Amino acid sequence: MLDFSNNDYLALSQHPHVVDAAVCAARRYGVGAKASRLLAEYHPLYHCLETRIAQDKKTEAALFFSSGFQANVSVLSALLDRRVLKSQPLVFCDRLNHASIYQALISSQCEWVRYRHLDMEHLQSLLERYAQDSRPKFIVTETLFGMDGDLSPLEKIYALALAYKTFVYLDEAHATGLFGPQGYGHSTTQVWDQVPHLIMGTFSKALGGSGAYIACNQVLKDYLVNKASGFIYSTAPSPCSVAAALKAWKMVEFMAPQRAHLHDLSDEFRNMLSTQKVDIGTSTTHIIPIILENEAQVMETQKKLRAKNIYVSGIRPPTVPPGSARLRIGLRASHTKEDLYRFMEEWKKI
Ligand SMILES: Cc1ncc(COP(=O)(O)O)c(C=O)c1O
Repeated sequence: MLDFSNNDYLALSQHPHVVDAAVCAARRYGVGAKASRLLAEYHPLYHCLETRIAQDKKTEAALFFSSGFQANVSVLSALLDRRVLKSQPLVFCDRLNHASIYQALISSQCEWVRYRHLDMEHLQSLLERYAQDSRPKFIVTETLFGMDGDLSPLEKIYALALAYKTFVYLDEAHATGLFGPQGYGHSTTQVWDQVPHLIMGTFSKALGGSGAYIACNQVLKDYLVNKASGFIYSTAPSPCSVAAALKAWKMVEFMAPQRAHLHDLSDEFRNMLSTQKVDIGTSTTHIIPIILENEAQVMETQKKLRAKNIYVSGIRPPTVPPGSARLRIGLRASHTKEDLYRFMEEWKKI
């Protein structure tokens, strides 16, 4: 089977070192954390992981959550709490942000305005429109968009945040492990020293496991430990997930060859598809949408590929905007050029 449907981008989910770390932790500590972190005994594994994340993200502190969805919903809701901010915050949100971000905006009852996907001129015009508005402002964006495979222009976002005094919230779910000088995320290509910010990322994609981190300053971490409901009122992530996460995180900096292979493969695949006049949207990475005419065509093509033992995910509205139903290709470092040729061969027959 040729599988393009999962997000195990660095093939770490089955890496023997990562699996061993999880198994050893299970033997030593058990498979469950047994209580919320605020109630359970102090566990050194969390501390090791969070210290290491903060070091590589160049922030004062980090905090680990059970999942990316949980982190986005509970952290953003806590940050946007109008009672704490003493006024209703205003959020500038990339139109194509993930559902968990929208869930947080809805539950916090903040006011939000959406800017066109990655359109910095539009973002600037909206910031300008609200320039005299004294409410706390936030820019919220993914750094690598999970359905479109394009990267946020972080330098520009930094400049706008600085000029318009906005907090920046970044979701690195798909960029963690693959972008940045050591692989610790696209956000690490930018120094954030003058802009208040928080970076969230997951262990469920390139790091092959589960769970999510946030990286921020110590004051924010202390606030979130006491305020983020998903942290307080949920059983802590299992020691197995934490140990696997720590092992995978440590391995990332040594995986430059796998990253280079994946980026080369992605360039080649995008070229092959474009040559065949396939609409791949604005992808510049290993996440490659194949945008088709309608939903029926997407599901029909998915079915035909499955019959050839090729797995791709059909993605339909509301996950993506109406009129942009697609097959989503997620390339991984374990793919080879032969895999691409095989896909193209079958594609041409369809
Ligand atoms: C951009 C983005 N943020 C957050 C999440 C949620 O992460 P998790 O799967 O760890 O809950 C996802 C998952 O698909 C995602 O794509």
